[in-house]
Amino acid sequence: MTLSRSNGTVLVVEDFKDTADIICRLLKRVNYEPHPAYTLKEASEKLNSIRCDVVVLDINLPDGSGLDFLREIKSVDQDIPVIMLTAYTELDNAIKSLREGADDFITKPFENDYLLHSIGRALERRRLTERLKQSEKFRLLGELAAGVAHDFNNLLSSINAHLYIVKQKMEHAGDDLKEHLDAIEMAIDDGAAIVARLSSMGRKNADNFQSIDFNHLVQDTVLMTRPKWEHEQRRKGRTITINTDFGPARTVKMNPSDIREVLTNLIFNAVDAMPGGGEITITTRDLGDAVMCTVSDTGVGMDQEILERIFDPFFTTKGQGTGIGLSVSYAIVENHGGTLTVDSVPGRGTTFTMVLPVNQEPNSRGDGEIPQ
Ligand SMILES: Nc1ncnc2c1ncn2[C@@H]1O[C@H](COP(=O)(O)OP(=O)(O)OP(=O)(O)O)[C@@H](O)[C@H]1O
Ligand SMILES: [Mg+2]
Repeated sequence: MTLSRSNGTVLVVEDFKDTADIICRLLKRVNYEPHPAYTLKEASEKLNSIRCDVVVLDINLPDGSGLDFLREIKSVDQDIPVIMLTAYTELDNAIKSLREGADDFITKPFENDYLLHSIGRALERRRLTERLKQSEKFRLLGELAAGVAHDFNNLLSSINAHLYIVKQKMEHAGDDLKEHLDAIEMAIDDGAAIVARLSSMGRKNADNFQSIDFNHLVQDTVLMTRPKWEHEQRRKGRTITINTDFGPARTVKMNPSDIREVLTNLIFNAVDAMPGGGEITITTRDLGDAVMCTVSDTGVGMDQEILERIFDPFFTTKGQGTGIGLSVSYAIVENHGGTLTVDSVPGRGTTFTMVLPVNQEPNSRGDGEIPQ
């Protein structure tokens, strides 16, 4: 998941202002967002007010030991990587810091490349950990879905069958009663749709893998979703347009109904994000061994806190939402060996980017189920 436009936010805790400034300038040059802190007190405040991706931490600070702050960081979020800055004479402390969970230590004076390399490696490890956690959530949800969906579906069909009989027997019932029966019927339909989407999380996707013209599939989805983004919005007095910008035609191996579902979810979310109307732009590009598709909107956008949770199953900010659209989409794209990332600016809009390998074999990731 792309969480911010920079390569990452780095808290630089170093009491020597010159050293801190050199590190910050270096980080800025390679598109990190550095935040200097010259004391532990300042560092502690920043840790609580900004979302740190990495901390570079001096061991000796005027108001305390970096080792204490290391413990504080790990108690806030044990996955934040910490790189210790030490003098040669402090190697004992450096080793202690590794035992306390630091990711690396660098002795001063340090080489710029070495520091950047260490930060890059720590960030990569953090991303992998996040991905693993996300995959674990999907695995659990997939198991839950497989167990529950089937029973729940039977239950819904049973209610539906009884409802049908009641409706027949009450053919001449008043409008008032009919309204309630219709409401029950609608709720059953919604329940069935949720179950269908939930079970898609645990679905094996080895079936129905076909070679598909990617641009055609995207175009078809735009047309299929037209009632939602055009007609429904027009009835509500707002205008939403979809612009497309397609790259060269490519054939991609995929489960087409799965990928259509992903695009439909992205388009529906874009529509929901533009209560005053706006524009959706959909692009496709040929990346050689993969294709890329972006879906951008000019809607409300998302702040960092929401961005971090959107792929979590059942996370929604909508009254009527189920919160599974994006988690299902993420699982589908991962099952295809691809990636789904997001970039968003509050008040300006959001772009989702899906990258799909063109030659993914359905079983090349084990049994084709959600990756573990
Ligand atoms: N394009 C977007 N712009 C702004 N916020 C978005 C966008 N796409 C997703 N979100 C946020 O992510 C949340 C989760 O989206 P997701 O599609 O998983 O669930 P949902 O749309 O709330 O419900 P549903 O299961 O019906 O799709 C949304 O509730 C919304 O807050
Ligand atoms: Mg949605």
